[in-house]
Amino acid sequence: MKKFGIFYGSSTGVTAETADEIAKTLGTAPADVYNVRHTNPDKVSEYDNLILGSSTWGAGDLQDDWYDFLDGLEVLDLKGKKIALFGCGDETMSDTFCGA
Ligand SMILES: Cc1cc2nc3c(=O)[nH]c(=O)nc-3n(C[C@H](O)[C@H](O)[C@H](O)COP(=O)(O)O)c2cc1C
Repeated sequence: MKKFGIFYGSSTGVTAETADEIAKTLGTAPADVYNVRHTNPDKVSEYDNLILGSSTWGAGDLQDDWYDFLDGLEVLDLKGKKIALFGCGDETMSDTFCGA
């Protein structure tokens, strides 16, 4: 079975719950699900398959905890990794729906 690392940022818990649902569906262990607020970006190096999730805040912005984590990701070599993205948002905000 493929090993996935699931990394999410969540302010009110919706993206956290979604990450857990994705993990259950894929058979990913809870230990491979990370809240980026409490995680060193280097952790992604342990996985070939990454699933990254953010809710959208402000007007199409990333969830707050992602900014520092992304700074950390940008200096890593992610070549060859398979990366999937998911997002949570409010579809009534049609201009910025899941803009993160
Ligand atoms: C102040 C505020 C701004 C928001 N801005 C957006 C937005 O621009 N686009 C969007 O799709 N959702 C927006 N949302 C909705 C959130 O992304 C949504 O509630 C999401 O489920 C929160 O997930 P989280 O609890 O994992 O952070 C906003 C919500 C609030 C309260």
